[in-house]
Amino acid sequence: MTEQYYEYDGPFLNLHEVIQAARLNLAQGPWEYITGGSETETTVRRNRLAFDKLAIRPRVLRDVSGVDCSTTAFGRKLRLPVITAPVGAQDLIVEGGGATCGIGAGRFGCGQMLSSVSEPGLERVAEAAPDTLRIYQLYVRHGAEWVDEQVKRAIDHGYCAFAITVDVQWFSRRERDIAKRWKRKSRLRSGDWEHQSSFCWDDVKRFKDTHDIPLILKGIQTAEDADLACQHGANWVYVSNHGGRQIDHGQGALEFLPECVAAVDGRAQILFDSGVMRGTDIVKAIGLGADLVGIGRLACLGLAAAGAEGLVRTLELLEDEVKRTLGLMGVRHWEEIEASQFCPGQPTAEPHVFSAFPLLKMPFDGDAP
Ligand code: FNR
Repeated sequence: MTEQYYEYDGPFLNLHEVIQAARLNLAQGPWEYITGGSETETTVRRNRLAFDKLAIRPRVLRDVSGVDCSTTAFGRKLRLPVITAPVGAQDLIVEGGGATCGIGAGRFGCGQMLSSVSEPGLERVAEAAPDTLRIYQLYVRHGAEWVDEQVKRAIDHGYCAFAITVDVQWFSRRERDIAKRWKRKSRLRSGDWEHQSSFCWDDVKRFKDTHDIPLILKGIQTAEDADLACQHGANWVYVSNHGGRQIDHGQGALEFLPECVAAVDGRAQILFDSGVMRGTDIVKAIGLGADLVGIGRLACLGLAAAGAEGLVRTLELLEDEVKRTLGLMGVRHWEEIEASQFCPGQPTAEPHVFSAFPLLKMPFDGDAP
């Protein structure tokens, strides 16, 4: 593969430029809402640090003239092993909210996990993006009967799997939002937190006994819970710390991915997110055993930069980074990555939510983040 950077004639030649455009387009409230984490934001920084602490050991003199970074999930071919992670209140970030996200994800050829607290709601997203691989994510805000109704709505509208987020038993302290007295208003936020806080493994079992749709448990952070998720029939274990927006002072997510992969031991498939910002991050997560990777903030920033096309371009740039990384590692496809191709590495930068983008101010002369 040659340089070929300049064949694209749009505004974004690298991910830095996507983030710069997002920053210019977003008011301070939504900007802090997207980028922030909980309390001291230590978990946010550890998410980046975990990627920075893993170095790649490239192999050479292998034929890498053809690199294929596609995958298959839920019976569908995806251009990259990536989905957009569920994000609430996406309508504050881009016109059309979750529908615009679904259109962008589908146009590129990856999947979307739609948040139950994102407008315009699952029916209209299905209408806007009928061919996108769509998964529905739920926060449990009412009892079992209500959950069953949501599953039926999702199945009726072509969602291929159902995710329940399990790391929001209590809502965390989002200090940036608090400092700005910033509130998200949404009709979808109604309901009773008690149901979320008391949701337990027995409820997972009931779900599996009642429904046929593949179940994803999102927010698994330990080997113990990964094992329990499999014992209770989860089809996918979604390893994530919510991008550092829930428990503070947690581990960086990439650090607990290997113990979760080992505990699952092939009984379920693995989704991973939290801190993924670059192609190398995707390569590391898949190399450590994830089947699919979610992007939360990065997808939001692509949408904020230029709507559905901004998300498509973000994914194209990620794909380009992934392809070049795999080629330079001596790998033609995901299965060829060997465990020996990763080793401990010394971090070189102070980790923070944007430390994966050291050139954010270049050649930009405006108010860069
Ligand atoms: C989220 N996340 C999230 N998760 C979820 O299950 N339901 C939701 O409604 C939301 N809402 C939400 C809003 C915003 C603005 C962000 C940034 C994140 C968490 C999300 O799905 C994912 O786990 C993280 O975003 C992954 O980390 P990165 O990729 O943002 O570092």
